[in-house]
Amino acid sequence: MARRTLLAGGAGVVGLSALGLSACGSATSRLVTPTSSAVEAAERARRHTGRTVTTRLTAAPGPIDLGGPVVDTWSFGTVPGPTIRARAGDRLVVDLTNDLPAPTTVHWHGIALRNDMDGVPGMTQAPIAPAGSFRYDFTVPDPGTYFFHPHVGVQLDRGLYGVLVVEDPAEPGDHDQEWVVVLDDWVDGTGRTPDDVMSELLSGSGSASGHMDGMGGYGAGGHGTGGDMTSPLLGGAGDIAYPHYLVNGRVPVSPVTLTGRPGQRVRMRVVNAAADTAFRLAVGGHQLSLTHADGFPVVPVTGDAILLGMGERVDLVLTLGDGAFPLVAAAEGKHGHGLAVVRTAAGAAPSSTARPTELDGRVLTVADLAPATSAALPVRRVDRTHDLDLGGSMGGMGGMGGSSSGYVWTINGRTFEHQQPLDVRQGERVRLRLRNATMMFHPMHVHGHTFAVVDAAGRPGARKDTVIVAPMRSVVVDLDATNPGQWMTHCHNAYHGEAGMMTTLSYRD
Ligand code: C2O
Ligand code: CU
Repeated sequence: MARRTLLAGGAGVVGLSALGLSACGSATSRLVTPTSSAVEAAERARRHTGRTVTTRLTAAPGPIDLGGPVVDTWSFGTVPGPTIRARAGDRLVVDLTNDLPAPTTVHWHGIALRNDMDGVPGMTQAPIAPAGSFRYDFTVPDPGTYFFHPHVGVQLDRGLYGVLVVEDPAEPGDHDQEWVVVLDDWVDGTGRTPDDVMSELLSGSGSASGHMDGMGGYGAGGHGTGGDMTSPLLGGAGDIAYPHYLVNGRVPVSPVTLTGRPGQRVRMRVVNAAADTAFRLAVGGHQLSLTHADGFPVVPVTGDAILLGMGERVDLVLTLGDGAFPLVAAAEGKHGHGLAVVRTAAGAAPSSTARPTELDGRVLTVADLAPATSAALPVRRVDRTHDLDLGGSMGGMGGMGGSSSGYVWTINGRTFEHQQPLDVRQGERVRLRLRNATMMFHPMHVHGHTFAVVDAAGRPGARKDTVIVAPMRSVVVDLDATNPGQWMTHCHNAYHGEAGMMTTLSYRD
């Protein structure tokens, strides 16, 4: 709690003033702040439908039934929270009431929205105090599958998340129905809160100390015995063995049922809302056609399973078979999985421990993606390049061979409080080189922009806002700096971000 408050405060007090002082030798440039006229101008330039979608969200503590275990948690009333739907170009007005015993905010993950509505406490807005409220009011420019969650401490690892679907009126509706599927790793209310887990990680106390020996003690539900959480796809796959993995808020023994008719084409919008878990998702007896990554269209590619890091989303199309099938989200590199049942006919439900062979078939990753023509970032000269060296000081974990102790994750050797912002100017093509010098994967996320993942030939590829950087590997992304303001850029592992792996993409003029 103390550290969270410190960090939230740090982002505000230190964050902006530190930004102001670190002009990289340029005395003439100034920060483009969230309240600057450039932010207003960018909002005015967004195309509008003239329609407004209005809704309210209340963040509050309370019991939630996960389909057996009833947990005391913080949520927007249900887990997942309500799905918000709008059309591209709509104005979205969301009145948030904070009934939590702690300050909060809502961040609209993946949306290229006006900077002062981005939900980063101390950077784009003041934290919303307990009993307080805040009106989020912004245009949603791009269609796609997005989600929302607080940007305070590790609140994301409670039940505080929901899906935001931005529909594209121009898109051909070549599917018969649509399912929203949200994946999560769950600890809150099982004897520990995410804040407890964070303190254990920070103090290095045995029970939650990463995938080292002490890890075995964690996992109140008895699932957390796997000391070494690694995966061929990800290397170090996480710091926490969770007692539960959820699909749409349910544990595998009482899964949700997604119903349809044989032969129907279903669009499945999948969100990984977990804090420390990547999932490998498959549907028994089905192939998956991946059509969108992080909301933006890709050249459709078919596989047996997909890998989804924290903060990533995909849209999948599948043609339903006849029967009842397991949709399994296996916690990558960990023990455990989430389950839903896909049903088009009567008959026995799949076992709660079903493991479709598709999980071991062709697994789609970012390497399989190419942008649809409509989503491709044009080839252009890069105006500015920033390197982000992803590091950690945890002995044996950071891969730096260091003897330093403590749970610390860094960008360019610094934690967020001491970070040097990534300066950009509006209109530039900016290249970020994400270089992972640790033995653990990091799903790196940039607020307010959808970058292009640069392919092996150096060309801008699939558009994304969150991309997995595997251990000792690099990922290069390009973005056009067309959304002025101050934008968090961080690892979407909630614990890594909170332990320092965050910086700012900082517009100056
Ligand atoms: Cu969903 Cu700052 O992120
Ligand atoms: Cu990370």
